[in-house]
Amino acid sequence: MSAILPPTYDRTGRHGLTPEVTHDDAARFNFLTNLNVYLGQRVFPGIKQAFEKRVKPKHLARTGVDFTSHRDIRDEMRADPYYQAWAALRVNTMEMRQQAGRHVVLRQYDAMTEKIRAANAGKNTLQLDDKVTVPEYLSQVDNHWMPGSYYGEIVPGDAGAVASYEVGLFVTTAGSMSAFGDGAGRAIVKFVKERFPNFQPKRILDLGGAFGINSLPLAAAFPDAELVVMDVGAPALRYGHARAQSMGYTNVQFVQANGEHTNFPAESFDWIQTTMTLHETSANAVVNILKECQRLLKPGGLMLHLEQPNFAPETPLWERFTRDWDAWYNNEPFWAKFHTMNVFDLMADAGFARDTHFDGRAKADIEAGRYQPWAGTLSRHSPEQKAAMSQQESARKGEGWYLFGATKST
Ligand SMILES: C[S@@+](CC[C@H](N)C(=O)[O-])C[C@H]1O[C@@H](n2cnc3c(N)ncnc32)[C@H](O)[C@@H]1O
Repeated sequence: MSAILPPTYDRTGRHGLTPEVTHDDAARFNFLTNLNVYLGQRVFPGIKQAFEKRVKPKHLARTGVDFTSHRDIRDEMRADPYYQAWAALRVNTMEMRQQAGRHVVLRQYDAMTEKIRAANAGKNTLQLDDKVTVPEYLSQVDNHWMPGSYYGEIVPGDAGAVASYEVGLFVTTAGSMSAFGDGAGRAIVKFVKERFPNFQPKRILDLGGAFGINSLPLAAAFPDAELVVMDVGAPALRYGHARAQSMGYTNVQFVQANGEHTNFPAESFDWIQTTMTLHETSANAVVNILKECQRLLKPGGLMLHLEQPNFAPETPLWERFTRDWDAWYNNEPFWAKFHTMNVFDLMADAGFARDTHFDGRAKADIEAGRYQPWAGTLSRHSPEQKAAMSQQESARKGEGWYLFGATKST
């Protein structure tokens, strides 16, 4: 099997806050990116073999019956040395990516903090609220091994954790998320323009938008609309606001709030968006967020969420087992539960009429000519599922992320 190589770090885009990345930093990012791809393309397929040739026969000999639950598969795979080696390498790659990003940012920390402070000073497009507290489902977890998660502050006013997240994103996504890492946001725009060609939103809310990496394509695609990037985390908003200013955006606000219960007036948005946010919340929070979307949308408004698809009754046990991996080993604890929830029932319970529900697939949208044509066909969380299929084939099928949503009845 020939290897498909990821793009190199020098293809990434730069904005006013991008830290200096030396030759050695870039070499480190390139190495980790390739290790990531190697683990997904070459090492991961061996896990299925370990299962078929070792774990399953042993299970059958002992119990006399096949597996009936993906959790039982996990319990027995955990003892398999090949699985252990792959899982340890994958965790270690993520840890090294976090350390490589921090290494770049901490070296330039004071200058970067000052640049952010100066860019944000006196701007009413950044609205922080120190009464907003980070819910426990976020504060208790260093998501995907980010030290301090999105909220860590070494000094007040810090945005280093988020800067480090952005600079290392290339590694985690195998360079497949477009030059500015906004392939998901660009994919959303494409999806909405195709599915709702006459939609002209005036106010858009990106709930859990963090530093706006995937929000800004919405502002670019609808320049007459006002975009609100909302998050609970002040460091992400500080960094995001300064970043958006440096990129010339004038129609974007960054607002600190909890999406479960905001202070925005009812019916104040035409479109509410989440991008890879719901799986980092909790079962109660998802219910509250969907209810808040219902309250905040204008009649006829659009709600859209981008995630991995949840399990369907026909989802094979093996796929369930592999897709729960992040919940156990990548500090994404809610994912295992979220995978089992029915998003259509959740939307109906929140007041969205079933005849307004829709879903679909999208792949990362990459600027033409920037990367190989197959780039972006892999979602960050599912390289191994697609490994069996050639990436070109996957690109043709348009696979990648799952989008679901509804419109608010008029
Ligand atoms: C995985 S990140 C995704 C960020 C961004 N949407 C993107 O595309 O990169 C999830 C974000 O959701 C935010 N978040 C989670 N729960 C939230 C809530 N209840 N209210 C506001 N933001 C929330 C987190 O703080 C975090 O920044």
